[in-house]
Amino acid sequence: MNPLNHVAIIMDGNGRWGLKNKNSRNAGHKAGLKTIEKIIKVSLDNKIRHLTLYAFSTENWKRPIKEINYLFNLLEKFLYNKIDNLNRNKIKLKVIGFKKFSVKLNQLLLKSEKLTRNNKSLQINLALNYGSKLELINAFKILKKKNKAFTENNLKKFLLTKEIPDPELLIRTGNTKRLSNFMLWQIAYTEIFFEKKLWPDFNEKDFLQIINSYKKIKRNFGSVS
Ligand code: FPP
Repeated sequence: MNPLNHVAIIMDGNGRWGLKNKNSRNAGHKAGLKTIEKIIKVSLDNKIRHLTLYAFSTENWKRPIKEINYLFNLLEKFLYNKIDNLNRNKIKLKVIGFKKFSVKLNQLLLKSEKLTRNNKSLQINLALNYGSKLELINAFKILKKKNKAFTENNLKKFLLTKEIPDPELLIRTGNTKRLSNFMLWQIAYTEIFFEKKLWPDFNEKDFLQIINSYKKIKRNFGSVS
């Protein structure tokens, strides 16, 4: 059975779900938040150490401002209402991304990270204003500035995911098979599962099924056996 320490998720399909069920893309984002809570619970139960959630990409700024504002308001409300609960469950929250939000949200994110920084059960890496290309360019620029060699080990130290192990499992919901600029370096040997269901419809059972399938995969990492 393969060990599972880190699951990364591209939570796709909120907009389509919202339009289909409530005639509003934003209603899909609201429903998507409920799925996040279900997935956190399963992650805790299964002793997964890292859960990385792609919540907002560097490309998502192209969306209508109303949708962007709705998403960030949703995140603010979520943190206000749930951070104490996350903390009680010994969950550590870490933002990976290029923080560029309102002063209020920045402060709230920092406060949440600080409150939970010593927690050891599950680390939620919230990818917010995250883009893999920008992350890599940024890391190379730092290496160049510090006059360090472009080696794998040196580069890793300047990624937003430093101190986070690479994910063994990546799930993308929403019936779309693409990576959307997500953790392109970190997923070099990750097992990828594309799920047909839209994110708000994805549930505990679906997640457990994927975990079980992943655990049975023969992983060779380029070798033979
Ligand atoms: C992708 O679906 C989803 C997002 C860009 C946002 C993810 C946000 C949540 C799950 C809820 C809010 C949580 C936080 C942390 C703010 P899409 O809108 O691209 O769906 P579509 O492909 O159907 O258009």
